[in-house]
Amino acid sequence: MSFPETRPRRLRRSAALRRLVRETTLDAGNFIAPLFVCPGNGVRREISSLPGQFHFSVDQVVREAEELAGLDIPAVILFGLPKKKDEVGSEAWQQDGVVQNAIRAIKKAVPQLVVMVDACFCEYTTHGHCGVVVNERVDNDATCENLGRLAVSYARAGADLIAPSGMMDGAVGFIRESLDEESFDETAILAYAAKFASAYYGPFRTAVDSTPAFGDRSGYQMDPANVREAMREVALDVEEGADLVMVKPALAYLDIVAEVRSEFDVPVAAYNVSGEYAMIKAAAEKGWVDHDRLMLETLLSMRRAGADMILTYHAKEAARLLKKA
Ligand code: PBG
Ligand code: ZN
Repeated sequence: MSFPETRPRRLRRSAALRRLVRETTLDAGNFIAPLFVCPGNGVRREISSLPGQFHFSVDQVVREAEELAGLDIPAVILFGLPKKKDEVGSEAWQQDGVVQNAIRAIKKAVPQLVVMVDACFCEYTTHGHCGVVVNERVDNDATCENLGRLAVSYARAGADLIAPSGMMDGAVGFIRESLDEESFDETAILAYAAKFASAYYGPFRTAVDSTPAFGDRSGYQMDPANVREAMREVALDVEEGADLVMVKPALAYLDIVAEVRSEFDVPVAAYNVSGEYAMIKAAAEKGWVDHDRLMLETLLSMRRAGADMILTYHAKEAARLLKKA
């Protein structure tokens, strides 16, 4: 019988000691808040599948952006809901579309806030797929051409970063060239580099009415079983000029986050997606978990895995809590 010589508990004796030896930090500065922009005026409508998240008209999204900036959150990412859907989602690249208007309004009211925009068509197409459909398949190159138009329209409105989320081959390179051709060389690209075909997107699709009318997205989004392929996708996007790369979803894919972090030198983002958010909300509503602790622990796990930044619907509430702490 012998008592231990090494006693790691010595460094856990007080809050101050624990703080000194803490390896990972979580800060409002790590957050990117997703915002949904819809047509109309004075609209601030709660989304049933994402409690605490709203559809905002342009005037209201500006108020929300101001509040987020006031909490020291450095960035937002915008998603749009069109007035009218069509086969290719052409409303997406109209210069006076809701997202373009929102970019201009936010940049004017809160110039220090980084404005990112999701570049995809699934919210804008009648069939709900992420691009141009030909014979029930998404045509890669036709979609890239539209993505070029879309990216330029967002850059023209003043977006700081364009984030193509459709997993089209070559999209990052195509967008980079399209931006440079129009002299938007300072507009950066956040690539949804390793985006998996995931059931965790359910609440988001309900929120923006983008569930595919036929088939699913596994012809373009990645197979959840694949790690090596994820590394290849990230490598391609970095070669094509991605300034930041993202892994999505986050929680069930922290192994991918960790590997991307160790393999690449570009900043890494993790997307704490709608289903991850909704699970915490639902369990908390049932009284089964401590909402705030679970939220912060979950966000911290993404940072620990190696994410420099986290796209999260929790941004506002987490920033508020961290401010108090
Ligand atoms: C659009 C897009 C999706 C998400 C972000 N951009 C949905 C999808 O791919 O079906 C999901 C975000 C979330 O679940 O929070 N391509
Ligand atoms: Zn899409």
